[in-house]
Amino acid sequence: MTRLVCVSSGKGGTGKTTVTSNVGAALTQFGTDTIVLDANLTNPNLGFHLGIPLYPKTLHDVLKGDAHITEAMYIHNSGLRVVPAGLSIEDLVDTSPENLSDVLLDTVGEPDFVLVDSAAGLGNESINAIEASDEVLVVANPNLPSVTDALKTVNLAEDAGTDVLGVVLNRVKEHDSELDVNEVESMIGYDVLMEVPEHGKLQEALAAKKPVVHHEPDHHVSERFRGVAAQVAGIEYEPEIEEEGFLSRVLQRLR
Ligand SMILES: Nc1ncnc2c1ncn2[C@@H]1O[C@H](COP(=O)(O)OP(=O)(O)O)[C@@H](O)[C@H]1O
Ligand SMILES: [Mg+2]
Repeated sequence: MTRLVCVSSGKGGTGKTTVTSNVGAALTQFGTDTIVLDANLTNPNLGFHLGIPLYPKTLHDVLKGDAHITEAMYIHNSGLRVVPAGLSIEDLVDTSPENLSDVLLDTVGEPDFVLVDSAAGLGNESINAIEASDEVLVVANPNLPSVTDALKTVNLAEDAGTDVLGVVLNRVKEHDSELDVNEVESMIGYDVLMEVPEHGKLQEALAAKKPVVHHEPDHHVSERFRGVAAQVAGIEYEPEIEEEGFLSRVLQRLR
C-alpha cells in the first residue's frame, strides 16, 4: 500500500528538503519504490538538492491540469523518482494547490512511499500538503522557536487526521543552550526518531547536488538519515559506521 508522507516543520531552513531527499534516497537504497515530490510551490528547491534543476513538465503543470503526474516524474540516477516544481513566477499563475490531494491520490497503488516536501510556514500550501498526506514526519531544530512551530504543525496534522510519525531533530550542535531530546519530546508530544548533527557535509552534498547518503554514504551523518528511513519503513537496521571521535568534533567546530 502506498504511504503518503509529508515532511513538514512550520519553519524555513530546518532541513525539510534535506530530510526529504536523503530519506527518499535511503528508502530507495532499502529497496522500496519511492517518489519524492516538491510541494513547496512558491520556493521549490528539491530539484537542486537532487541535481535536476531544469525539466519540461513540473508539479505546477500537473496542478494546473496540463500534465499527468507521470509526465512530471524524473528518475534520479539512484532510482528515486522525483516530481519537481516549476521555478518561474509564471508557474504560480493559475496553479491550484488544492488539487494536490487528487494529484497524490493518482500515485496511490504503485509506489511504496511518496514523500512530500512541504513549504515553510503554516499557510495554505503547507496545510494542503499535510491534509493531502496520510502521515507527517516533523523536522525541528533544537531551539524554542523551531519546536514551537513544530508543535503547531503537529496540531494541524492532528486536526486533519494525519498521523504524526515523529520528529527528526536536525542541526544539533550539542550546545548547552539547545533543547535536549527529552525537552523536545515533552513539548511536541511525539518521539524524536533521530538526532541529526549540524555538519558541513550537508552543505558539501548540496553543492555537489546529491543527497549526502549518496555523496558520502560512509559518513555517520548518512547513517542518521538511513536510520530515519528504516524507522519510517519499519525495517530493522543496524548502523555500521562509527561516530566521529570527540577530537574530530572539536576540530570541526573550531574550523
Ligand atoms: N544537519 C545539517 N547540517 C548542516 N547544514 C544543514 C543541515 N540540514 C540542513 N542544512 C542546510 O540548511 C539549509 C536549509 O536546509 P533545507 O533542507 O533546504 O531546509 P528547509 O527545506 O526546511 O527550508 C541548506 O543549505 C542545507 O544544506
Ligand atoms: Mg525546503
